[in-house]
Amino acid sequence: MPDDILIINASELVTLKGPKRARAKREMSDLAIVRDGALAISGGVIVDVGRTESVLKEHDSQGVERIDASGKLVMPGFVDPHTHLVYGGSREFELEFKAKGKSYLEILKGGGGILRTVKDTRAASASDLFHQSARRLESMIAHGSTTIEAKSGYGLDRDSELKILETTRKLADDYPADIVPTFLGAHAVPSEYEGCPDDYLSFVIEDVLPEVRKRKLAEFCDVFCEKGVFTADQSRRVLLAAKELGMKLKVHADEFKASGGAELAAEVGAVSADHLARPSDDGLMALVRKDVVGVLLPGTPYSSMSKEYADGRRLIDLGIPVALGTDLNPNCWNESMQFTISLACHKMRMTPAEAITAATINSAAAVGMEKRVGTLERGKRGDVIVLDVPSHAHVPYRFGTNLCSTVVKDGRVVWEKAASLDS
Ligand code: NIG
Ligand code: FE
Repeated sequence: MPDDILIINASELVTLKGPKRARAKREMSDLAIVRDGALAISGGVIVDVGRTESVLKEHDSQGVERIDASGKLVMPGFVDPHTHLVYGGSREFELEFKAKGKSYLEILKGGGGILRTVKDTRAASASDLFHQSARRLESMIAHGSTTIEAKSGYGLDRDSELKILETTRKLADDYPADIVPTFLGAHAVPSEYEGCPDDYLSFVIEDVLPEVRKRKLAEFCDVFCEKGVFTADQSRRVLLAAKELGMKLKVHADEFKASGGAELAAEVGAVSADHLARPSDDGLMALVRKDVVGVLLPGTPYSSMSKEYADGRRLIDLGIPVALGTDLNPNCWNESMQFTISLACHKMRMTPAEAITAATINSAAAVGMEKRVGTLERGKRGDVIVLDVPSHAHVPYRFGTNLCSTVVKDGRVVWEKAASLDS
């Protein structure tokens, strides 16, 4: 059967065995590694995990597909908890503006940034948008992401936002990845509403959100809460309206300036507060008290040529359960959780073990999937990746190439590295 599989002889099997919730503080350093490890998947679900010898004793049945992971690292598929997967066009030309010292918000105010992508996304047909986004999704899967959150937010009118979310649904139907959809209608004020953010938000709340909910096109609602975009009071309006409709919440919080985003995330009971490069101390303490997951996105300052990375070390020491995401978007075209982990270690003072916890079980918690994915334990989904390195510390250490050799989703091999040149 294609969804029965045995993976054996792993030099390190990172199980992350433990509570089915986001891990905090020292828990983030415990990867529960099994050496010479193996796991068995049946019917798409993990049925055994342990030393190779003992797993083989129980599950050495004929005809079951085997992967020999000798000398390799085996771990849970990455959960990417923050992406803007579906958009039209690209913005490579902004690199030159950034190199000349223009800030992200200056580029946005000059009609670039999000608003440029809104134009390209509105102009794209549904089929074109699907194919552009599918290329990215294929690459994310090849880099080991098996669960991916995907936001709308480049439509900013009713039909275009619905087009993005419908495209997201079709991608989820057609590709071997779990996709968690998020409505981000409050991503920017579109040019038709320039100078009237409150009117735009009324439109989002009254005309778009109910339709999104009725058609079950999104599980989460998010908002870009930032000085110069939406204030905390404006963001609260959208989030409370979504909560009323039964949606779970996220906040783009304090990316450039302390804007009350972290405080708001805690106040409204958001599952995660994302970015957190410049949060206030009160905001951070509020996140700790309410167990809000802090989703850090080090690809964003990297692509924005900024030195303002979130202080991952401090957030973890304070007790915030930290997760990592790519923030894939046209400003930050990052499809790789491996590169994201490397940035977290090099730029945010996180250890390799913390970064791996942040990219698996903690990011699963950031999208409400912690009971189903994010660790290799009996009963969890068979979402497993094999990397061609001997230990987990090699993942952040060796950046810039794809270390995955096999990606398994629900017990099926969905991607394999091509044969090497000398074989
Ligand atoms: O998460 N910060 C807001 N939104 C995106 C960027 C969007 C864009 O530049 O197109 C982010 O970084
Ligand atoms: Fe984002």
